[in-house]
Amino acid sequence: MVSNAMLASQLDTSDEWITTRTGISQRHVVDPGTSTSDLAVEAGRRAIDNADVETIDYVVLATTTPDRICPATAPEVASRLGLGHVPAFDISAVCSGFLYGVQMARALISGNLARAVMVIGAESFSTLLDPCDRTTRPIFGDGAGAVIFRAGRSDECGALLAVNLHSDGALADLIAVDGGGARARSAGRHDPAYIRMRGRSTFIQAIKHMEEVTLRTLDEVGWKVDEVDHLVGHQANQRILLSLAKHLGLPEEAAVINIREVGNTAAASIPLALDYGVRTGRIARGHKIVMPAFGAGATWGAAVLTWPDLKRAEA
Ligand code: COA
Repeated sequence: MVSNAMLASQLDTSDEWITTRTGISQRHVVDPGTSTSDLAVEAGRRAIDNADVETIDYVVLATTTPDRICPATAPEVASRLGLGHVPAFDISAVCSGFLYGVQMARALISGNLARAVMVIGAESFSTLLDPCDRTTRPIFGDGAGAVIFRAGRSDECGALLAVNLHSDGALADLIAVDGGGARARSAGRHDPAYIRMRGRSTFIQAIKHMEEVTLRTLDEVGWKVDEVDHLVGHQANQRILLSLAKHLGLPEEAAVINIREVGNTAAASIPLALDYGVRTGRIARGHKIVMPAFGAGATWGAAVLTWPDLKRAEA
């Protein structure tokens, strides 16, 4: 765990700046040698313990920080989870990665290609942070969360009712890691693989797109805004989440916010927030949930579901 005070002792920043601008008090970073697959396996194991499924047919891992450039990390995760030779692949959609994975699960299940799909969001995002960059280091953290989707009826608790996804590559420069990519390498450049972010522009785009896609997705399933129990959005910034709730006409309390404890964990953010909402007793069976995200790419989207009845194994 890295507190704001610890960062303030190393960077030109302060607890006050980080807390008031982002809502973040602390974030977790992996121990030396620990990587994304280790976090993903732990999250996957806990999801299996909680889920009511016999087998898992696919593993989809959303991550910005795969263990290696090649191969994908998901096959190793599936193997370490003891899932045999199931298809397993990575998705690279950064902070929207979990929602992209959810859409894959939905497509595989509704297309009768799978009965159950594990979607994991896992990040060792700290490995992309320039230790000297005060504009990124306080924001991001490491973590993992996993959800298992299974075939079922749309009137069951736990039904995933709609997912909408988008991208705009013209905004690719908002948040990027250039070093380590093929474009830099083919040009003979060996820049460090650090993330850079145009925070203010991203902030504006994030609210605009998440508001629009959330309203459209709610409309698609016929839910009025005031029927929504929880807004479980990508935890990029507490101010973004509160402002989004306000723009949508939701009370602040509807926003499930755990950014204070974990920072922005990119693809792991929404499943971690779901887990937080359940552990703190806020999210319960049958509750109506909308999950918007915006991130690098740019990519964005929203999903709506009702919360299932889970037997809950102790973590
Ligand atoms: N500590 C102290 N000062 C800092 C700082 C830090 N860690 N980081 C930046 N600053 C300074 C800036 O240099 C700037 O100083 P200046 O006014 O003298 O130029 C000032 O604080 C304001 O910077 P700005 O970037 O405009 O702040 P902000 O209010 O926009 O907050 C973010 C920055 C990153 C927290 C915010 O823009 C954000 O959350 N953006 C969206 C992130 C996001 O949604 N990402 C998508 C998914 S990853």
